[in-house]
Amino acid sequence: MSNQTTILITGGAGFIGSHVVRQMVANYPDYKIINLDALTYAGNLENLRDIEDSDNYLFEKGDITDSAQMERLFNQYRPDGVIHLAAESHVDRSIENPNAFVETNVMGTINLLNAFRALWQDNWEGKRFYHISTDEVYGTLGETGLFTETTAYDPNSPYSASKAASDHFVRAYGETYGLPYVITNCSNNYGPNQFPEKLIPLFINNIIERRPLPVYGDGNYTRDWLYVIDHAVAIDLVYHQGKNGETYNIGGFNEWKNIDLVKILCKQMDLALSRSEGDSESLITFVKDRPGHDKRYAIDASKINRELGWKPSVTFEEGLARTIDWYLNNDEWLKNVTSGAYQSYYDAMYGK
Ligand code: NAD
Ligand code: DAU
Repeated sequence: MSNQTTILITGGAGFIGSHVVRQMVANYPDYKIINLDALTYAGNLENLRDIEDSDNYLFEKGDITDSAQMERLFNQYRPDGVIHLAAESHVDRSIENPNAFVETNVMGTINLLNAFRALWQDNWEGKRFYHISTDEVYGTLGETGLFTETTAYDPNSPYSASKAASDHFVRAYGETYGLPYVITNCSNNYGPNQFPEKLIPLFINNIIERRPLPVYGDGNYTRDWLYVIDHAVAIDLVYHQGKNGETYNIGGFNEWKNIDLVKILCKQMDLALSRSEGDSESLITFVKDRPGHDKRYAIDASKINRELGWKPSVTFEEGLARTIDWYLNNDEWLKNVTSGAYQSYYDAMYGK
């Protein structure tokens, strides 16, 4: 039997997952990195073109909601560790179709936990199940305060309720079966390869196409933004150095009201596209609010900083510039993901 460390990364063809896979493949040539992904609308193997031929990388198309398939794949690859990112991740879609979020985020997670448990329950040594979660499980903040690891769960959307439920199951498997786990709860990510249904890439795409920029409600909602590559660095660190049974919050120390962020994005896009000042801002349109819209998220990331030495390395200005650059230089990627099904989603969500 081989002594090679095998890590199974779920959702590796998605936005954050693809950055995690790339870093792990580059940083650990001796590991076997398996990317397990169902390739839903959000999964895209083009995100990983540059590393797909690496010797230590393997892609496996699989659906975490299929328990028999998970059991078979776990027996086949015998992963020492799982980094679990596969999920339905968009709040607006969860409002339209909550069941899909229960299926993938709750049942899918349980299937992985069961398969991992069945494989290693006689000897957990050197094994780890790392569950990637969100700050949305904590609900909403008022004008002040920060989410810490001890903030009570209080989810408000079907998406965050499904993520909260999956976090609880991971913890419960730790308590009940001794399954070695670690959980991180992160704030809003942005950067290359994000599907253009989320605020920043949606607005970049709409500015390119001169479509309206639909700001929900009055735009005075606050999010804490983190450059995706900094999140991937944190995930590598937590996988290798985090303590079993612990939760770590990850955030950007970078709060923005949506409307202020959108105005900065508009200015940078005008410059990048050599359009006159104010051109993109004139596309801002205030639209009906998201139901159950959380007012403010902000993360206290001092635990991961203190215990593991992590902090964000990319400033928001730099990260946004890099992100805009990436979308403008990857118009093929953008065209490919915004054709077909995307158009029907867009029309249903925002009207034609
Ligand atoms: P994403 O939607 O871009 O990617 C999700 C990936 O999971 C896709 O590749 C998709 O094909 C895959 N997937 C979906 N259902 C699957 C299934 N049934 N079986 C196998 N694969 C499946 O999501 P993301 O933004 O990269 O988020 C990744 C994880 O990080 C999620 O768990 C999300 O809750 C969490 N998270 C995201 C953010 C953020 O700002 N994007 C912040 C904090 C936490
Ligand atoms: O906080 C972490 C979470 O961040 C992750 O767990 C989720 O997977 C991720 O999607 C993200 O959730 P948000 O709902 O915060 O992200 P989104 O980009 O959808 O929206 C950001 C803010 O912008 C939010 O206040 C809603 C607003 N918004 C969004 C869209 C898509 C608009 O005003 N107009 C829009 O068209």
